[in-house]
Amino acid sequence: MRYLDVGTPKISAIGLGTWQFGSREWGYGTPYAEREARAIVRRALELGVTLFDTAEIYGLGRSERILGEAIAGDRDRVFLATKLLPVAPFPAVVQQRAVASANRLGVSRLDLYQVHQPNPVVPDTVIMRGMRTLQRIGLVGEVGVSNYPLARWKAAEEALGSRVLSNQVRYSLATPGPADDLVPYAERTGHVVIAYSPLAQGFLSGRYDGSNRPRNRVRSFNALFLPVNQDRAAGLLRVLREVADAHDASFAQIALAWLIRSPAVVAIPGASSVAQLESNVAAAEIELTDDEWQALRDAAVQFRPAGGPAVLPRLLRARLGSAPLGSAPLAQPGEQGGDEG
Ligand SMILES: NC(=O)c1ccc[n+]([C@@H]2O[C@H](COP(=O)([O-])OP(=O)(O)OC[C@H]3O[C@@H](n4cnc5c(N)ncnc54)[C@H](OP(=O)(O)O)[C@@H]3O)[C@@H](O)[C@H]2O)c1
Repeated sequence: MRYLDVGTPKISAIGLGTWQFGSREWGYGTPYAEREARAIVRRALELGVTLFDTAEIYGLGRSERILGEAIAGDRDRVFLATKLLPVAPFPAVVQQRAVASANRLGVSRLDLYQVHQPNPVVPDTVIMRGMRTLQRIGLVGEVGVSNYPLARWKAAEEALGSRVLSNQVRYSLATPGPADDLVPYAERTGHVVIAYSPLAQGFLSGRYDGSNRPRNRVRSFNALFLPVNQDRAAGLLRVLREVADAHDASFAQIALAWLIRSPAVVAIPGASSVAQLESNVAAAEIELTDDEWQALRDAAVQFRPAGGPAVLPRLLRARLGSAPLGSAPLAQPGEQGGDEG
């Protein structure tokens, strides 16, 4: 495993995302929540993973509880990250919610406490007052944000008056935008980009296609899995296959190795099994050449998935399991569907 050099306790370049734990929208069921999730965490610890990411909203607190139970006894080996859902994020509320998260996790300190989304009404000058108090009393180590554009990340840091260590954003070969601005900024200034949905929710594993679509609630609303986007991704998947063959690796491993080639990026893939976790951790050992990295980036930039309102009818039809999925022409790319985690 590789670790970041940003003046914090050890942060592994491959972490573990735990939105899947106890969450209905991923639909992995009770055996996963009660047994597999714990086994995934235990194996991750054995393999040197230190970064574990959860949020108060995941499974309405169940993810935090499952994760907390799984790391009990190994607290010192973990860089524990959770997130505040910024509903009425006034200082007293922020503080009270951090205490509630820590209680569910069974810990006395949150190594990284992140604001899950920018609040459209309450400014960061207000939210960060709560964060500052949490740092002062020692309940929170580092402060982070999530889904913040660069300008607002910088403004949040100014409001806090000290480093806002990380910005957790959707970043993968299917959504390479952060490579343009957030990643160079983080590299220059000692900050961290935490890449969420680094496998584009499994789209980049190459395991799904038009005749084999994932059926759970999160992904049935993700436009990437529509056949039209499988078609549009042919070029990207071809390059992914070439690089994967050259390294005797899987698509998913190359997708992760591409992200964490930057010393300022960590990826937090979720996993539905221990085998997936093991494979994802092994991606930290893969060294891409400059040419491979660039070829993947070029292919990623050229991938223009259909999205936005134009694909809504198709998504609904696909979800209902009716009607042909690849028929009418679509508007050009926009936002992809899918629930926010
Ligand atoms: N801050 C935010 O707003 C936000 C938003 C979304 C997510 N997140 C965080 O980021 C984490 C990861 O994102 P995500 O769960 O959306 O997407 P992801 O990590 O890109 O995809 C996870 C899914 O990909 C499949 N997978 C994982 N490893 C694989 C492998 N080696 N080979 C093949 N398939 C593999 C599994 O699904 P199947 O086996 O079922 O195919 C798994 O559930 C979350 O758990 C959460 O902690 C944060």
